[in-house]
Amino acid sequence: MFVWRRWRDVMFRIVVAGLAGYAAICGVGRLVALVGLWVPVSPVETAVDALQALMSFGVIATMLKMLPQLLVLPTRITLQKAYDQLEEEIRQRRAAEAMVRRFQEIEANEAQVRQAQKMEAIGQLTGGVAHDFNNILTVITGTIEILADAVKDRPQLASIANMISAAAERGADLTRHLLAFSRRQPLQPRATDINALVVDAARLLRPTLGEQIEIESMLAHDSAPALIDPSQLSTAILNLALNARDAMPDGGKLTLETKNVVLDEDYARLNNDVKPGNYVMIAVSDTGQGIPPALMDKVFEPFFTTKDAGKGSGLGLSMVYGFVKQSNGHVKIYSEPDHGTTVKLYLPRAAEAPVLPVADTGRPAVARGDETILVVEDDALVRDYVVAQVRRLGYRTLSASNAVEGLALIDNPERIDLLFTDVIIPGGMNGRQLALEAEKRRPGLKVLYTSGYTENAIVHHGRLDADVLLLAKPYLSADLARMIRTALEA
Ligand SMILES: Nc1ncnc2c1ncn2[C@@H]1O[C@H](COP(=O)(O)OP(=O)(O)OP(=O)(O)O)[C@@H](O)[C@H]1O
Ligand SMILES: [Mg+2]
Repeated sequence: MFVWRRWRDVMFRIVVAGLAGYAAICGVGRLVALVGLWVPVSPVETAVDALQALMSFGVIATMLKMLPQLLVLPTRITLQKAYDQLEEEIRQRRAAEAMVRRFQEIEANEAQVRQAQKMEAIGQLTGGVAHDFNNILTVITGTIEILADAVKDRPQLASIANMISAAAERGADLTRHLLAFSRRQPLQPRATDINALVVDAARLLRPTLGEQIEIESMLAHDSAPALIDPSQLSTAILNLALNARDAMPDGGKLTLETKNVVLDEDYARLNNDVKPGNYVMIAVSDTGQGIPPALMDKVFEPFFTTKDAGKGSGLGLSMVYGFVKQSNGHVKIYSEPDHGTTVKLYLPRAAEAPVLPVADTGRPAVARGDETILVVEDDALVRDYVVAQVRRLGYRTLSASNAVEGLALIDNPERIDLLFTDVIIPGGMNGRQLALEAEKRRPGLKVLYTSGYTENAIVHHGRLDADVLLLAKPYLSADLARMIRTALEA
């Protein structure tokens, strides 16, 4: 019965079938022998036959009882089939998992791209606003000095002038941060010793952070120089340290760390704004309250703050973000609520050794002269202010509001020693193109640029051309005087 029911599963079918046939014949033989029991041959043979018959019944009964189990017993073939099925299931499951992972990666990448686009859009908006604001502030910061000078013997008016000056200073500070975020501040990167800069920063931070906060520095003895604007980097570290202080109102520990790191292809794949390569890392860590995961995406946005009104403007991290990006670096923030936060700045390594800053050799307070300066500036308010300032310094001035007017004056026979031009001017040319054209027509003409932010004409990827003199807006009249002299003597 087993062979008949499980014929397809049975191995060595012929042999097993033969054996089954033999067993059946033996069984029939035993049945036939039962009949012989009643035909006595010898009492011994009868007894043996009886015993055998009894055993046969026993065996048959047992086999019938086992038959259901035997029929469901898995054979090698069914096992193989089950195994194959299992393998197929595992394969499908792995493929599904890989697909889910790929989707997650794509989703994460898309989220990153969306975030980057958002930051770009906000950057353009803030950059534009900051640029115009800068022009206004240039006039205020410049003229308020004259006013303060005029009323210095009338204390009440002098204090008002001081107030205006302080407010304008604060405005200039905000605009600087905004320009930094929109990656449009003029940067002057140079090979910088990161360890020395961090040590200096730690010393300056000491009084600001207060007694309750411990500062620890862990500096890599072999840290490479970074190609970065050192004064902006100090500001970035200060912003991070202030955030750390605010996150640790009951005290804690601030750790400043430097290290050489290599960001590889894998890292670049996960962070699509990163170029793989060698970087110098500065990490600023605190043991403060941390940032909730839901806010992680927002902290770099300008004006995002969780601080009370008047306590934070939400520009600290945006400055850090814009500055590091503009310097071809990378920022990463890690935070564990209730445990602390680490911000890592990856700065590009410099090829050459760091240059030691040259000590300022005390220039004369106000440098005057009597040369002729051509001022090209489209904003009438700023132009009038600049002309007035330049005249006060003793120079003769000519002024134009766009490139066409500027070139017309250049073509006049009148003497011109210096072209002082805004970088972004109307008239079909930018300041750089105007200067090149002017130098063609008047070889040896000196040029000084001014700008609220830097554009490609003057700046490649946010860095100043080596041969360009630029006075960043807003500026004090002392800076204007100094830069005019520097340009004339260049
Ligand atoms: N180290 C930190 N620990 C906890 N939260 C932080 C930390 N750094 C930043 N944040 C969060 O990110 C927000 C934005 O920081 P950001 O420095 O840009 O602005 P701010 O500190 O609020 O203001 P500002 O720096 O302009 O005075 C903060 O309000 C805070 O919620
Ligand atoms: Mg801050």
